[in-house]
Amino acid sequence: MSTDSVNEGRRRFWIGATSAVGAAGAVGLAVPFVKSWSPSAKAKSAGAPVVADFSKLEPGQKMTVEWRGKPVWIVRRTPESMKTLTDVEGSLRDPGSENSNQPVYTKNQGRSIEGHSEIVVLVGICTHLGCSPLYRPDVGAADLGGDEWMGGFFCPCHGSKFDLSGRVFQGVPAPTNLDVPPYYYISDTVIKIGEDGEAA
Ligand code: FES
Repeated sequence: MSTDSVNEGRRRFWIGATSAVGAAGAVGLAVPFVKSWSPSAKAKSAGAPVVADFSKLEPGQKMTVEWRGKPVWIVRRTPESMKTLTDVEGSLRDPGSENSNQPVYTKNQGRSIEGHSEIVVLVGICTHLGCSPLYRPDVGAADLGGDEWMGGFFCPCHGSKFDLSGRVFQGVPAPTNLDVPPYYYISDTVIKIGEDGEAA
């Protein structure tokens, strides 16, 4: 999900909300104004932010939550794996995330929010044709390049590979890095996905 798409989604929501208020007003003033602003269950499931608690996530582990019907991964990287993010940059298509989709506050090597560099949050959908890649943190995996493989994500559909920041490697079909959704920290181990925080 790109930031642009999120903004487009918000725009549509507000247009819908405004129409709903207009309709309620036309029917009569008996409908309390505030009620018009309560999103329906359908609207909630379609676009509402989700809160994720990753306090039980150990270094090296990944968890998945659903947001807008899509898998969103939260990965707690190890200090060792953070060091490999520099090592792989010569093999990446868009190491600086110049042509990829992420909030501006995650446009950095770790694609993470300042002060939480070990945590990366990614939309778990391949930017080629939409399969869900596999988490492959196993350094040196023989089927993924042996010594060259420092851990990351592998899409089994057509072989795209991404590093542990979701940055795409050269020579694979996926055109851009995995998307980063908007999110912010409620506490050190709880994030809200689907909204920008103060860092935006
Ligand atoms: S859908 Fe992932 S490589 Fe084609």
